[in-house]
Amino acid sequence: MTVDEVRERAGSLEQEFKDALARVENTAGLEEVRVRFIARKGAVPALFDELRSIPPEGKKEAGRILNGLRMRLQSAFDERKEMLAAGRARDSSIDLTLPGRTLTPGHLHPITQMLREVRRIFASLGFSVADGPEVEDDYHNFEALNFPPDHPARDMQDTFFIRDTVLLRTHTSPVQIRVMETTEPPIRVIMPGRVYRNEAISARSYCLFHQVEGLAVDRGITFAELKGTLATFARQLYGNDLRYRFRASFFPFTEPSAEMDISCFLCGGKGCRMCKGTGWLEILGCGMVDPNVFTAVGYDPEEYTGYAFGMGIERMAILLYGIEDIRMYFENDLRLLEQF
Ligand code: DAH
Repeated sequence: MTVDEVRERAGSLEQEFKDALARVENTAGLEEVRVRFIARKGAVPALFDELRSIPPEGKKEAGRILNGLRMRLQSAFDERKEMLAAGRARDSSIDLTLPGRTLTPGHLHPITQMLREVRRIFASLGFSVADGPEVEDDYHNFEALNFPPDHPARDMQDTFFIRDTVLLRTHTSPVQIRVMETTEPPIRVIMPGRVYRNEAISARSYCLFHQVEGLAVDRGITFAELKGTLATFARQLYGNDLRYRFRASFFPFTEPSAEMDISCFLCGGKGCRMCKGTGWLEILGCGMVDPNVFTAVGYDPEEYTGYAFGMGIERMAILLYGIEDIRMYFENDLRLLEQF
């Protein structure tokens, strides 16, 4: 063989090798290429064997050609091998057929949801929102609201007293007083918040719960506006075909006073366990603001009239969700909360 022939054979062998390597898809294919070209019985060592037949003056040059060939083939082979290994690692780390991980976002507490819903409805009726302290004084919680000094609601059993005249508010009505003390009519405001009662804890009562108070004061406000506002509210919350009624009642801070009932949505008014056979569910207390309350905050009862209402949020939630034990709203058991 001549040096030129060696160069030619080396060139075509290198091309063959490159083509074969380009077709390799896996380690088995790579191994085939190695055996065919590089391994001891492969084409490259076979070409080295040909060196023997080269005339002495050409041996050096032919050896240089073949050594160069062997080095290039080996490094191309090593590179392909590395790429295959890296590719395998990449392929096994990303499986596009795997279903995505489910995110588990938190929930708003059902009471928070109910509070937000009540706020949304009253906002659409033109009511803004006000806040008051949970630690109240006797004056705002009782006296300014026209509770006589010996009224049973002041009894130690109902009220958590902190000192003689400092207590945890038993309702959100004191916020009415605070709003009127600092604002001039016209007023349309709701006042949501926590209230506290010193009662034995049971399925029906808890030491703490939430109320939303409402107050509207202006010239010429009538009981008709009270009814219209509360009926609209109840229909938005419980559905359009709801029936309602106002029953005469008593609260020290309203005159006349009423309680609002809605038709029982469980039985449609026929009478069931939920409505205790009456067909009606009580949802709130309300009335026209008592002139004595206006006088206490410095409003002229001859100039202004107004209405007020108060509802228990847990009670609304109990009715809407059918969760009858009030304690469940405070235990934060995930099995309950996850249903909302
Ligand atoms: N404060 C009353 C309660 O806790 C609820 C209430 C009734 C509020 C009538 C009012 C109202 O503003 O007019 O039971």
